[in-house]
Amino acid sequence: MGSTRNAETVPSTETAPSAQGPYGDATARQAFATEAVHAGREDLPAMGLHAVPLDLSTTYPSYDSRQEAARIDAFAATGARPDGPPVYARLDNPTVARFETALARLEGTESAVAFASGMAALSACLLARGAQGLRHVVAVRPLYGCSDQLLDTGLLGTEVTWVDPAGIADAIRPDTGLVMVETPANPTLAELDLRAVAHSCGTVPLLADNTFATPVLQRPAERGASLVLHSATKYLGGHGDVMGGVVACDEEFARVLRQVRFATGGVLHPLAGYLLLRGLSTLPVRMRAASATAAELARRLAGDPRVARVHYPRIGGAMVAFEPHGDPHAVIGGVRLITPAVSLGSVDTLIQHPASISHRIVAEGDRRSSGIGDRLLRMSVGLEDVADLWRDLDRALGSF
Ligand SMILES: Cc1ncc(COP(=O)(O)O)c(C=O)c1O
Repeated sequence: MGSTRNAETVPSTETAPSAQGPYGDATARQAFATEAVHAGREDLPAMGLHAVPLDLSTTYPSYDSRQEAARIDAFAATGARPDGPPVYARLDNPTVARFETALARLEGTESAVAFASGMAALSACLLARGAQGLRHVVAVRPLYGCSDQLLDTGLLGTEVTWVDPAGIADAIRPDTGLVMVETPANPTLAELDLRAVAHSCGTVPLLADNTFATPVLQRPAERGASLVLHSATKYLGGHGDVMGGVVACDEEFARVLRQVRFATGGVLHPLAGYLLLRGLSTLPVRMRAASATAAELARRLAGDPRVARVHYPRIGGAMVAFEPHGDPHAVIGGVRLITPAVSLGSVDTLIQHPASISHRIVAEGDRRSSGIGDRLLRMSVGLEDVADLWRDLDRALGSF
């Protein structure tokens, strides 16, 4: 059992990264769980509100068009969030901004910029660097299948060099704009030593996809990542009913990302912003509960003679991957309580066959060489009782 790469120490989940200091407004340092509930909401009592207001406006009235012109000029020049009403919903939204504030606090970064999906967030990072003439990306496999494909096809005008972690430094060129990694990686749960990777990047920004670990288990910015990406569709939302993406980073990069978002339109809907902010408040509790169940299922699978190999990261988490001796499609067809479906991070347990679905789009040879075998199954463990989940898996494993 265990993944094949070096793991890092599990970071403390008890201390908030930035409740006090340059980015937070709270007067005292608060614990992570407290930040998860309160960040982005500090002004509500003074407004006489308890729940977060949901602003669905697409436009905002203004009787002073000279002032609007000045605000638009300022945004075009700097990418800083405009003061006051957003002018137009593609430029900014106050409900989404609350989610961005909260996520930045949890990841320990200065800023965060939200997008319509995780892929829109990654696209914006690539476009932002490409616009600066830095079109080359160095990346480590495996990545989520569509991230792999976006880089591999060069659809956005980028060029990728795939390397092992040890090859990062040598692959960097004068036009390298980003180094991209996922840890734990989708779907093999392979882990990287982020500090060592960041060191290899030198001055090139490291983009770490933190979708699987979430800031509850790991805050990549503390280990040297410049850009922390999430498919917010997963654990941040947490209930399988909202699609979104977000990049946590410093304010300088956030300004470029906001300009890209304004120009290309991949905005997060305000209702999604509302749901994601609500999701953050239960993120620590959900992650800990699901991780405990996942660890127990990984333990039982590892001891089961019907299972050839189990992948469970040292950092923990709610994802488990395993390779049955028999037909993996029979396991998918045999579950009843667990839902056979792509995606992850919801309150209910999902299972899928990466070679058929999440990583189908990756060329077979690249899939295999990055450890995504034809027997591999990826399971996202939810909040059900472990005994019920095991009964379902046990039956499904017995059915081939
Ligand atoms: C690790 C990871 N990153 C990024 C994405 C893309 O996110 P989205 O589906 O929200 O566009 C996914 C989607 O599954 C993912 O698993």
